[in-house]
Amino acid sequence: MKLFGIFAAVANYFLCSVQPPSPPLSSAPENLPILVWGGLGDSVLSSGMEELMGELSERYDTRVYGVSIGDTPSEDRRLSGLSDANYNVQVACSKLSQLDNTPVNAIGLSQGGLFLRAVIEQCPEAPSLRHLVTFGTPHMGIERLPRCAPRDWVCAAVALVTRWGVYTAYAQSHAVVAQYYRDPTRYAEYLRKSTWLAGLNSERALIQEGHASYSPKQGDRLAALESFTAVMFSGDTTVTPKQSAWFGSSNVSRLSNVSSEGESSEIVPLEQQPIYTHPLDPLGLRRLNEQGRLHLKACDGRHLNLTDACMWPILDGVFDKSE
Ligand SMILES: *[C@@H]1O[C@H](CO)[C@@H](O)[C@H](O)[C@H]1NC(C)=O
Ligand SMILES: *[C@@H]1O[C@H](CO)[C@@H](O)[C@H](O)[C@H]1NC(C)=O
Ligand SMILES: *[C@@H]1O[C@H](CO)[C@@H](O)[C@H](O)[C@H]1NC(C)=O
Repeated sequence: MKLFGIFAAVANYFLCSVQPPSPPLSSAPENLPILVWGGLGDSVLSSGMEELMGELSERYDTRVYGVSIGDTPSEDRRLSGLSDANYNVQVACSKLSQLDNTPVNAIGLSQGGLFLRAVIEQCPEAPSLRHLVTFGTPHMGIERLPRCAPRDWVCAAVALVTRWGVYTAYAQSHAVVAQYYRDPTRYAEYLRKSTWLAGLNSERALIQEGHASYSPKQGDRLAALESFTAVMFSGDTTVTPKQSAWFGSSNVSRLSNVSSEGESSEIVPLEQQPIYTHPLDPLGLRRLNEQGRLHLKACDGRHLNLTDACMWPILDGVFDKSE
């Protein structure tokens, strides 16, 4: 099982200790494995995540792999906040390429959903993804840094790194949240300096002149998903605006020349976002939506309030009988 080093103890645990029920005589094909990528300051090696993965494994009768970048829970937690997102993507790509070639399904919690999207868009060697579900993922970035809970040392360290500015070269290579910080009042600066989200969302290439850095493959790969379900938490105050979970954001063209007026309650929804309306459909989202494969769902409560009432109806709809 060393092969799955990255997927760590959890995967081994389920591979070794959960006996699948005896197969029916017709020998139905095995359910697709599920990849899970956790949020900022969390790790799939932590006990809370292990519990969730165990429930998933049992409910959908399949293998569940947690994607971890570090080898220990604390290292993995640190790297979820204090690292270069592009490095994390590279590590994940190379580890995922060791899985056999069966397609997989995936669940991303919060920023984990951005990482899964990066893997889909940028990592042809990874197994192909069929169904993607993201919970509270800041797909259009965050417009304010999250407040840190007491004793959340990863968050506190991130706050330190970004103290002198989120768009400094240092923050853009050492703090993952800075790499998806999308300041609507400094949009031009974001486009120039963002080392991650602007590329992940194909924003730079489409909005600035020419399409030099535009790769249609990114959007084609996302459009190839059988389904993409994006879940927003209706009381989310960690991801601002909460509609970022549905690809909503403030209107950057209205705010980009306003320095302090800043806050706006008007949120541009996905269908009016330039990355959606652009004729090239750079992220594939229009194709997904027009073919009924993009589902925007809501859950009650605060960020990652993953109650049974929230999770199971959504996941059952996606994974039950999804071959
Ligand atoms: C965003 O703001 C610009 C400039 O004020 C305006 O032309 C555009 O209609 C706005 N877009 C949306 C979707 O509200
Ligand atoms: C913002 O300012 C730039 C340069 O000052 C100008 O070219 C542009 O038209 C302005 N945009 C809006 C939406 O007012
Ligand atoms: C979490 O969601 C449940 C419904 O699923 C809701 O009743 C509860 O108030 C929410 N809790 C928080 C803290 O947001």
